[in-house]
Amino acid sequence: MNDKKSQFTRWGFIFATVGSAVGLGNIWKFPYITGEYGGGAFVLVYLFTTLFVGFAILIAEMFLGYFGKSDAVTTFENIGNGLKNRKPSMKYVGFMTFNGLIIMTFYSVVIGWILYYIYSSINGLPKTVDEAELEFKTLVGENILTQLFFHTFATLTVLHFVNGGIKNGIEKLNNFLIPTLIFIMLSLLIYSMTLDSFAESFKFMFYPDWSKLTSEAFIRAVGHSFFTLSLGMGAIITYSASIPNGTNITKSAFSVLFFDTLIALMAGLIIFTLLFQFGEEPSKGAGLVFISMPVIFSQMGDIGSLVSILFLSALAMAGLTSAVSLVEPAVIYMINRFKITRFKATIYMGTIYWFIGIFAILSYSTTYGEIFSIFGTPLFDALELLTDSILLPISGILIALTVGYVMRKVDLVKLQNEMGDKIFKIWYFSIRVVSPIAIIFLILNILGVIQL
Ligand code: PHE
Repeated sequence: MNDKKSQFTRWGFIFATVGSAVGLGNIWKFPYITGEYGGGAFVLVYLFTTLFVGFAILIAEMFLGYFGKSDAVTTFENIGNGLKNRKPSMKYVGFMTFNGLIIMTFYSVVIGWILYYIYSSINGLPKTVDEAELEFKTLVGENILTQLFFHTFATLTVLHFVNGGIKNGIEKLNNFLIPTLIFIMLSLLIYSMTLDSFAESFKFMFYPDWSKLTSEAFIRAVGHSFFTLSLGMGAIITYSASIPNGTNITKSAFSVLFFDTLIALMAGLIIFTLLFQFGEEPSKGAGLVFISMPVIFSQMGDIGSLVSILFLSALAMAGLTSAVSLVEPAVIYMINRFKITRFKATIYMGTIYWFIGIFAILSYSTTYGEIFSIFGTPLFDALELLTDSILLPISGILIALTVGYVMRKVDLVKLQNEMGDKIFKIWYFSIRVVSPIAIIFLILNILGVIQL
């Protein structure tokens, strides 16, 4: 693990981790939940929870990776073995590594949809909402083979870069795509600033209307801050195992938080400007990107196709750089534990999620949907719910408890030196108390034990 070939450069690490964090969550999900919860007040709550819960755990995960210098399972196992009364079973905490593969079963299908939409916007855009709705419904409900083609294409692309390893695959991919992505988002933002509705969009996002805020929004914000920072599945631990010695963890984590938040806010501003400009509702939900946006692009006239392709490419790039970080933790685990080649490990792990992904596709089809549903919930949604709402938060709490209670405070002296005593105290309090409580609320709420 420690030879130069498998180590990031300092910037390579930041780009790769930003690449993991910035994904469909920022450009697609953040705007639509902000729309659902009424705008500005939600944005503030989100910023607050991201800073006090997400950021605290991001630092903890980065530290675990740096400290353990191995895959997540080995790192937790070593921590357990180092205790006075040895606890080798701590290695099971590291099995969060496989959450990434479960996420990939549907994440890859969605990247496939985006690729399909890039292809279809070259051929012309839908003119009305009805037409757009029909196109999306036909793709998801009827065109199984089209989806399979794009899911497979997305899978092969992801596996190609994972197979290249940390330095020649993942770092290269991110060093190219992340600056490109930021450039595209900036261009789209500047374009939205030229439209009349930009002011309204700005107001919608940054002037809180507290009357619209529900306590459920708070829970959604905690959940999303987890997903968007790629926490609770070993991605951050795995990437951080390859940071150059002496890297400042707190500063690196802050850069990731900064870019992740920046891109989400930019995406929100762009999308709401376009929605208001073309008279669409901000609270459209998940269909925003695949139904509302294509119609808006077609109303723009000639420039529409170009804006559409730019927007969808940004989305695809964001998705791809996140996807490699979802697969890498399991691959590195297989290499370390079973001593197989990277190529073999990549093919095995890829085949598993690709195969389950086919059932996720089938679960949305009109013909086979019922067979691939669990208690009436399509497998696609069940997989999403299981990871997003249950497995990631549970892993998050285990990370917080490991760093906050299992490890000794002296082990954390690097962080204390980086942060200074005051900030370290706040962070430590968040890891030991605030984050675990916030996550417990989140889990209880999802399980329906408490209704907020
Ligand atoms: N952070 C990514 C996003 O916002 C998703 C992701 C989750 C990636 C977990 C890796 C790990 O879309």
